[in-house]
Amino acid sequence: MIHFRSLMVPLFVVMGQSISGFAAEPAGLPPILHPKDNLPTDDKISLGKQLYFDGRLSADNKVSCASCHDPAKGFSNGESFATGVEGKKGGRSSPTVINAAFQKFQFWDGRAKSLEDQALGPIQNPIEMNLTLDAVVAKLNLIDGYKSQFQKVFGTDVTSDGIAKAIAAYERTIVSGNAPYDRFKAGDQAALSEPAQRGMALFFNKANCVACHAGPNFTDNGFHNIGLPGGDEGRFAISKSVGDRGAFKTPTLREIAKTGPYMHDGSLKTFEEVISHYIKGGTPNPQLDEELFPLKLTANEVADLVTFLKEGLSSPDYPAHTAPELPK
Ligand code: HEC
Ligand code: HEC
Repeated sequence: MIHFRSLMVPLFVVMGQSISGFAAEPAGLPPILHPKDNLPTDDKISLGKQLYFDGRLSADNKVSCASCHDPAKGFSNGESFATGVEGKKGGRSSPTVINAAFQKFQFWDGRAKSLEDQALGPIQNPIEMNLTLDAVVAKLNLIDGYKSQFQKVFGTDVTSDGIAKAIAAYERTIVSGNAPYDRFKAGDQAALSEPAQRGMALFFNKANCVACHAGPNFTDNGFHNIGLPGGDEGRFAISKSVGDRGAFKTPTLREIAKTGPYMHDGSLKTFEEVISHYIKGGTPNPQLDEELFPLKLTANEVADLVTFLKEGLSSPDYPAHTAPELPK
């Protein structure tokens, strides 16, 4: 099947710059919606990528966005909890940034909506990068390479608004689609092995994963209490609705083989541990989601489900970005 979208190469002109940044989305993903006041340009994306990889956005010059959202670790960090400036640890795991462009909410509790809203949070967080916005802006304005790029992209010196916009524009290029699952769904019978096909059938039926991990990004963009022990109140802190106690955002499952350990508290290390949790139906508690209930899966079925998650949702076009040269 030929998508019309992939035949179109829209050319926009913003502030006198021509843009080829509207690349067609990979197969299986919906169009990326860019905020009207933050359309991407190649220069803006390139600037955002430098900021994303630059430790100078932190108090000790060592912690960048990529420290906790590392392309080599599924844009997560391979640890249960993130480690910020001076080795300080937070109480939640780093979610992947892959396909965050498609999310209606950011953070495990959904406290930010857009990537622009999200980006300045970690810079100011005392246990992550620990700089005030005034301090980071002053620091970057002393770097000629940044000053000139901000002038070119935004027509101003470095501003916090520009930092957020450039990083968000770059993040919208960190996408994963065109996985074996997508190609199978589009009619290529050979795209998935037989165990992965059986695992896919379990995912969408008997194992009930699709009740929450639905749609092209394998998330309903909702919040659910799946019965993990621990005192984190999750979405409740934001919504103050009792039903949201212990509820967290349904994460994407794309590239899930690379992003462990799993869950908001990084408490489950392997797929087998994750599936055991779902087979039990989670730890009973008053807010346990009604879609969580004990499952009867045989050992072979568990193996098939794991194969689907690993093989089916890992793309050959993984966004294996490497650190760019940083301005001086
Ligand atoms: C010290 C580690 C650390 C650093 C540095 C860090 N993050 Fe994060 N990031 C996290 C953690 C932990 C969360 C989840 C926090 C929560 O949900 O309360 C998160 C959440 C996010 C999310 C939301 C993803 C989702 O699915 O909800 C995005 C996007 C993100 N970070 C981008 C960035 C950017 C951009 C930077 C750099 C400006 C950055 N992060 C720096 C640890 C870090
Ligand atoms: C009731 C909704 C719901 C159902 C049903 C569900 N999930 Fe989840 N899933 C979630 C939520 C919410 C989280 C995050 C929970 C947390 O961190 O507290 C999650 C987390 C995960 C994670 C970890 C992702 C990460 O980045 O850490 C995996 C893997 C996963 N689910 C796989 C599955 C599989 C496989 C099934 C079917 C056996 C399933 N889920 C069924 C809602 C659900």
